[in-house]
Amino acid sequence: MSIDTAIEQGSLLYSPIMIGGVEIKNRLAVAPMVTVFCDDQGMPTERFIRYHEEKAKGGWGLIVIEDYAVDPAGRGFWTAGLWDDSQIEPHRELVERIHAHGAKVLAQIYHCGRQTAAALIGSQPVSASGIPDPASGEVPRPLEIPEIEHIIEQFGQTAARAKKAGFDGVEIHGAHGYLISQFMSYHANRRADQFGGSFENRMRFALAIVRSIRDACGEDFCVTFRISADEHVSDGRGLTETLEIARLLEAAGVDALHVSAGTYGSTWSIIPPLNVRQGWITDHAAAVKAVVGIPVMTVGRINDPAMAEAILEAGQADMVAMGRQSLADPETPNKYAQGHRDRIRFCIACQQGCLGELFQNKPIRCMVNPRLGFEYLDEMAPASRPTTIAVVGGGPAGLEAARVAAERGHTVHLYEKAHYLGGELLTGAMPPNKGEFTSYLSWAARMAEQAGVRVHLGTEFTVEICKQLQPDRVILASGAVAATPDIPGLDLPHVVTATDLLMGRATVGTRVVVAGGGMIGSETASWVGSLPGRDVTIVEMLPQVAAEEDVTRRMFLMRMLAEQGVKLLTSTTITRITTDGVEVRDAAGKNTTLPADSVVLALGTTPVRTLLGELDGVVPVTVVGDANEARNAVLAVREGFLAGCEV
Ligand SMILES: Cc1cc2nc3c(=O)[nH]c(=O)nc-3n(C[C@H](O)[C@H](O)[C@H](O)COP(=O)(O)OP(=O)(O)OC[C@H]3O[C@@H](n4cnc5c(N)ncnc54)[C@H](O)[C@@H]3O)c2cc1C
Ligand SMILES: Cc1cc2nc3c(=O)[nH]c(=O)nc-3n(C[C@H](O)[C@H](O)[C@H](O)COP(=O)(O)O)c2cc1C
Ligand code: SF4
Repeated sequence: MSIDTAIEQGSLLYSPIMIGGVEIKNRLAVAPMVTVFCDDQGMPTERFIRYHEEKAKGGWGLIVIEDYAVDPAGRGFWTAGLWDDSQIEPHRELVERIHAHGAKVLAQIYHCGRQTAAALIGSQPVSASGIPDPASGEVPRPLEIPEIEHIIEQFGQTAARAKKAGFDGVEIHGAHGYLISQFMSYHANRRADQFGGSFENRMRFALAIVRSIRDACGEDFCVTFRISADEHVSDGRGLTETLEIARLLEAAGVDALHVSAGTYGSTWSIIPPLNVRQGWITDHAAAVKAVVGIPVMTVGRINDPAMAEAILEAGQADMVAMGRQSLADPETPNKYAQGHRDRIRFCIACQQGCLGELFQNKPIRCMVNPRLGFEYLDEMAPASRPTTIAVVGGGPAGLEAARVAAERGHTVHLYEKAHYLGGELLTGAMPPNKGEFTSYLSWAARMAEQAGVRVHLGTEFTVEICKQLQPDRVILASGAVAATPDIPGLDLPHVVTATDLLMGRATVGTRVVVAGGGMIGSETASWVGSLPGRDVTIVEMLPQVAAEEDVTRRMFLMRMLAEQGVKLLTSTTITRITTDGVEVRDAAGKNTTLPADSVVLALGTTPVRTLLGELDGVVPVTVVGDANEARNAVLAVREGFLAGCEV
């Protein structure tokens, strides 16, 4: 089905909509997302422009671009900026290149208030009141009235710059606990003047900003407002007040509402991880839609255009915004419209590439889309000379390398010694709530097959096979296996690896000690803890378990472990495993024996690369993924992609 056909067939998803005076060609919007692709002065780079251009080409009707700070001190990350006239011209090119593909574009404008760090902005953060930021604990300085008036004016001036740069409109960022929502919520606002206290006073700042933008840009400039329907924090705002606010904003002349959730006190609800169900706050958008006449946009774990279509058909919202799905697959709208839903690469809400990098103020990445942020490098050119490639290993690195090499025109053979594809990432999909990981692995296997990769399952690649095939290059994606440090008793029969247990090749008794509390150990413990009648203890050398897990996933994991009664022994070392127990030593040097009838090994992993030596002098070899160094799937997929591009 072509896009035209989808439109002709009356698909609501692909029908146009008016927001203010702006006609948008379909109902699919890219939610605003800070990328850290601009330079440290908030100027767009070629990397930033190509990233957005790719989405415009991919068929999104509307792109809402990340937090444009109205003042450099209003930045929470290295965001884009329109706080100065010098930033207008560079942004004109961005807008023109997006418009060239038929998408409309809004600049989201914001001031982060207390949700930043003095180290980043070079001064004490400001807010409505001096209440510490719930995430960093930094104490802000309450704004004086003239400063508040100045910021209101800055919003108007920033919107005027956006208009001059050619943006179709602006989205006021009144959500996620930033300055506007700090004023709106008792959670952050304890002022006793005209900007605090009563509902009317708490709304004064937001409404003055709408007026300031209208004064600066005119009544027909498109202005939308993003709001957290529920802040999900104690003493925060909830849906009831949001409905009142929605009515006020409509009366104040806002053209559309974008209904999100959360503050930094509830980051999990701003960017919900895989523990949260898909489309989880669309009922809030529906509630808002019921009290206003302007268009309402929903967002939040909506990845599938089929789900978006159902939301529209049910009348719950007028537009659907997708954030991470647009990172995972910028071509989502076109693929669906053309009848290729099976080709869409879905976001798995892992949080690792996007949120994980952003929270370190680093350019975002995506686990499943290794091109994200590198679009401008045009890495995937057709092969100049088709060759034969052998890929060893059908985990994420091998699958990606094989697909890319085959799509570029090479003849590719993929060898996997197991009888299934997916490698250790399939194991990683087994713990509670991680099932969505399999959607990526299914996509990778399907796309490899469609690209013509010849898959040899149940076949261990050896030097003999290599000599028969005579490939021009081997891509070694053989992964890693459980590390076996020098601990007496590790070879006893009741000691099993996390992988064998999760893949059903081993079982555990009633009293289970998980040796190692990194991500693999902690997630495996939560799997064991979900079995009936198990008594589970994690023993971890570090002071924290699951330390490498992102904050949002970790919060759910820790809650689950607590509910399951899993005991955490941190800063504790295993000294010996016996037939019925595990001997441990704590930080104070005290020795104890934990009774155990099973021990699960999760003490790190060791790369599998014996073939590297064996193939020396036989064929050139590129090593990728955990076979290089045991890390994670974000890097494994990126390295697989690059290897596929470079052959
Ligand atoms: C429980 C668990 C949870 C995890 N959770 C996450 C997570 O949430 N996020 C994350 O980023 N990472 C996670 N990981 C780690 C992640 O799975 C790995 O980093 C990733 O799979 C590495 O990919 P790879 O392709 O390099 O290697 P692997 O996935 O290990 O694949 C290597 C493949 O090569 C095959 N192979 C080896 N030698 C040969 C040979 N000679 N011939 C043929 N085949 C061979 C193996 O059978 C295997 O299938 C988790 C791991 C586990 C065990
Ligand atoms: C990397 C990243 C950056 C984000 N930056 C912003 C932002 O600048 N402004 C904003 O309102 N929301 C931001 N968000 C939240 C998204 O707009 C969106 O509401 C959230 O990711 C949930 O939608 P999704 O499940 O479709 O991703 C960001 C999300 C991510 C993953
Ligand atoms: S890194 Fe993970 S959560 Fe982020 S967009 Fe990619 S798949 Fe989704």
